[in-house]
Amino acid sequence: MNPKEFSVVVLAAGKGTRMKSPLPKVLHPVAGVPIIKKVIDAARGAGAGEVRVVVGYGEALVRKVVEPLRVTCFPQQSQRGTADAVRSADPTSLQGTVMICNGDHPLIEAADFAGILREFAETQASLAVVSAELKAPGSMGRIVRHKGDLRAIVEAPDASSETLKIREVNAGIYVVNADALNRYLPEIQDHNAKNEFYLTDIVSLAIEAGEKVVAIKARKQVAAGVNTQGELARATRALFARKNRALMDAGVLMIDPRSIYVEDDCEVGPATVIYPGAYLRGKTSVGAYCVIEPNCYLAHTRVEDGAQIKANSHLESAVVRAKASVGPFARLRPGTEIGTEAHVGNFVEMKKVKFGARSKAGHLTYLGDATVGEDVNIGCGTITCNYAPDRQKYRTVIGDRAFVGSDTQFVAPVEIGADAVIGSGSTITKDVPPKALAVARGKQVVKENWVSKTPAPVSEDGSEDASEDAPRGK
Ligand code: UD1
Ligand code: CA
Repeated sequence: MNPKEFSVVVLAAGKGTRMKSPLPKVLHPVAGVPIIKKVIDAARGAGAGEVRVVVGYGEALVRKVVEPLRVTCFPQQSQRGTADAVRSADPTSLQGTVMICNGDHPLIEAADFAGILREFAETQASLAVVSAELKAPGSMGRIVRHKGDLRAIVEAPDASSETLKIREVNAGIYVVNADALNRYLPEIQDHNAKNEFYLTDIVSLAIEAGEKVVAIKARKQVAAGVNTQGELARATRALFARKNRALMDAGVLMIDPRSIYVEDDCEVGPATVIYPGAYLRGKTSVGAYCVIEPNCYLAHTRVEDGAQIKANSHLESAVVRAKASVGPFARLRPGTEIGTEAHVGNFVEMKKVKFGARSKAGHLTYLGDATVGEDVNIGCGTITCNYAPDRQKYRTVIGDRAFVGSDTQFVAPVEIGADAVIGSGSTITKDVPPKALAVARGKQVVKENWVSKTPAPVSEDGSEDASEDAPRGK
């Protein structure tokens, strides 16, 4: 084994009773990512070799999330404490340096783990516990020292009022040589307020046996365990704030970062402006010189340089090419690609549409399963009727430079040639060749002087009433 390599055991079998939610605690999302994934990713980022995850409550659900991350799951039959959890992970098969960490610390980063390991190697201790100084140590285990030397970790329910005043807490991360782990882990008893096997007791056991045990100080966020919905919300806010700071440091303009939410995997280019209420999710990327107006939701979407997403637009798995503009109030559903300098205006919905460069759909339109060429004009109120009574979807293809008049329906499958013109109000059911004009609507009938020749109907109460059938307008 590479001497720098280390194994990781992540404890994730607990229900998280204090979350008051049926979802296993470690699966609660923090800035869009399950808490436990943040921990595993950080460990991997620091170079972890084997990663073992102890599962229990909600095992099937937790496995679904962690197994794709190339970890091995070890079931803990009943949740009898953190030491019992480690015992469930087949510790005697571990070798070398082992990092044990709680699965509920989402703010930890790869650099934290790397720093902790470096310090552990320097101290040449056989066991280290990671600690942090907190203003409000709450329910966390207290680090008890005697004349500066580490003595024990005392859990809050077992602590005297004097001990509870200690502000140095156990961050729930331990680094230990596999030999020392297997020497002291079996000795841990459940003689405490909760009748649980506390992993924290390994500290005093190893010290009493004369081992070198140290506490490694970490920053506060490493110790930010999530036990309640309030703590989850605080962790989420901290992650969003961290991301916004990094983006602003890289030249992104944020009108009010407190109300802008960009998940960690998203990218935003310099000189892009983001307005309040924007939420960027998953693998979204936004180029340089873009504008994301208020209240836009972008999930797994690519927005290229100089594009504008105007207020209240909802984009999912879409692509917006350079200098295009979308919205306000536009909805781009999965599989939609808006071409360079194209324009999609208000109350336009698109699904699985390739919309060509410089084409326009300015208002109140639904396009689904369509290919629209370049420089096409789609008039207001155009609809592709893509869903047929046979419950199948059909495509509409519109060639370059076609001009589609307002209030047109395309009954798919249908193909419109390049440069064709569709008259307003048409219901197009047949293909239209290039450069043709197609009109498919009822012919206008005009009856001169019709009103004076027609007797006005009389309603039940005897008053005259306007006819329902009378044509109106021009
Ligand atoms: C634990 C520590 C405490 C520390 C705090 C840091 C113990 C006894 N106490 O307290 O000193 O300050 O973490 O956050 O370790 N788990 C299992 N199986 C179990 C019990 C727990 O896998 O039987 C897992 C949980 O899913 C969780 C982690 O272990 O991810 C910690 O458990 P939790 O109950 O949250 O411990 P704390 O009370 O926070
Ligand atoms: Ca905890």
